[in-house]
Amino acid sequence: MRAPDYPSPDAPKWAAVDAYFADLLAPGDDALNSALAANEKAGLPTHDVSAVQGKFLALLVQMTGASKVLEIGTLGGFSTIWMARALPENGMITTIERCPDHARVAQENLLVAGVSEKVDLRIGAAVEVLPSLAGPFDLVFIDADKPNNPVYLEWAIKLARVGTVIVGDNVVRGGGVVSPESTDQNVVGVRQFLDMLSTDHRLDSTALQTVGAKGWDGFSISIVKAL
Ligand code: DHB
Ligand code: MG
Repeated sequence: MRAPDYPSPDAPKWAAVDAYFADLLAPGDDALNSALAANEKAGLPTHDVSAVQGKFLALLVQMTGASKVLEIGTLGGFSTIWMARALPENGMITTIERCPDHARVAQENLLVAGVSEKVDLRIGAAVEVLPSLAGPFDLVFIDADKPNNPVYLEWAIKLARVGTVIVGDNVVRGGGVVSPESTDQNVVGVRQFLDMLSTDHRLDSTALQTVGAKGWDGFSISIVKAL
């Protein structure tokens, strides 16, 4: 079992329920399991989405009818595989990874999963890569370095159309998000991001806490209602 990002006395119960749900609704297969094993072998941080979260993203791709997805933060490509599999025949996910070592692991994981032709993996800092992309994207998943979340949100909107869905990972951070005085730059970035979600008239948003295999965290979800 993975170590939760945010330890809590209740974490084992949350993980047990996640395992129960995942077995029923988001079971692993050879490609997903081998991706997680490869990530561990390569020493990647265990910041992959959980299986049920990956399934949630895959369902969002289908519910929105997305054929053009943008992921900011590939890591080892676990969430990328979930979303790529949910794309229609002509669909494509562009995913950005800053660390070349992580990107190499992701490339191999995507190959093993048989989704490489649906994934445009860009290696580089997202702030450098984003200006080179052509929108509009139907769905954007922001899951990279949190201090840059405000910049990523601006780019997500620039690369959106009316109706684009924007999902932000890790907006709870074990409850750390409620501390205005926090000096944790991840918290500072997420709080700025949430302020933007609340005040930007182009967006309609909410945020949901999650507990599970990763501990206590959550997602934001927004729709672009005007540009
Ligand atoms: C962190 C980043 C993630 O993307 C995640 O899912 C969990 C934790 C982090 O930087 O702490
Ligand atoms: Mg994340």
